[in-house]
Amino acid sequence: MNRMQFLKGGLLIGGAGILNTNNVLAQSIEENNLDKLTDENGSFVLNQLPYTESFLEPNMDAETLHLHHQFHHGGAVKGANNDIKMIRKAIDDNNLETVDFWTKKLSYHFGSHLLHTIFWTNLTNKKSDPKGELLKLIEKSFGTFDKFKGYIAESAKNIDGNGWGILAYQPYSGSLTIMQCENHEKLQQWGAIPILVIDVWEHAYYLKYKNKRQDFVDTLFNIINWDNVAERLNKAKKIG
Ligand SMILES: [Fe+2]
Repeated sequence: MNRMQFLKGGLLIGGAGILNTNNVLAQSIEENNLDKLTDENGSFVLNQLPYTESFLEPNMDAETLHLHHQFHHGGAVKGANNDIKMIRKAIDDNNLETVDFWTKKLSYHFGSHLLHTIFWTNLTNKKSDPKGELLKLIEKSFGTFDKFKGYIAESAKNIDGNGWGILAYQPYSGSLTIMQCENHEKLQQWGAIPILVIDVWEHAYYLKYKNKRQDFVDTLFNIINWDNVAERLNKAKKIG
């Protein structure tokens, strides 16, 4: 079994053991050319940002974006590759004492890689509003756009410690749902496919916004790329 087969096998067979259902769905999104998380060998890769580091100024400063992408997201990519290597080694050596540790690490690092990859594409440099099918499903799921905005903003601002506010398509109910993800992997709903993610780790805002996480979350609504969110919803409905 080569590395790619091992990785895919882990994704598909090891739903309970190595990666969870969300990651299988994320893999499907990747195959639909929305997110590219791996290279041709199955190794996780850090892609370039879809814009220059100053593109989101002044809402998100270039220095923060550089450090965030290169070292926080980049570190997660390296970590996830190492986790896979160590799991493979433990299996080959028939030394299963360490797989608990590395499997938890993989969930953490993979979550970071996936969510950061989505995050970069969720942002742009101009203000817009959701429309069309996305707006209709927001209204069906939450009442109005303003109610949804208040709900996801409040959820993101109040995450315990580091984490993500996430808008996801839940195929089991055909509706949108909000998750308060702690770290990169906790408190998710099985099956839910993220379409809009808000990074509230301190590394996302501390240089510019200091301890004002609330201000950072409010500002993000000026630079959400609703066309990208709509595209993600469209693909999520096809694979969900
Ligand atoms: Fe981050």
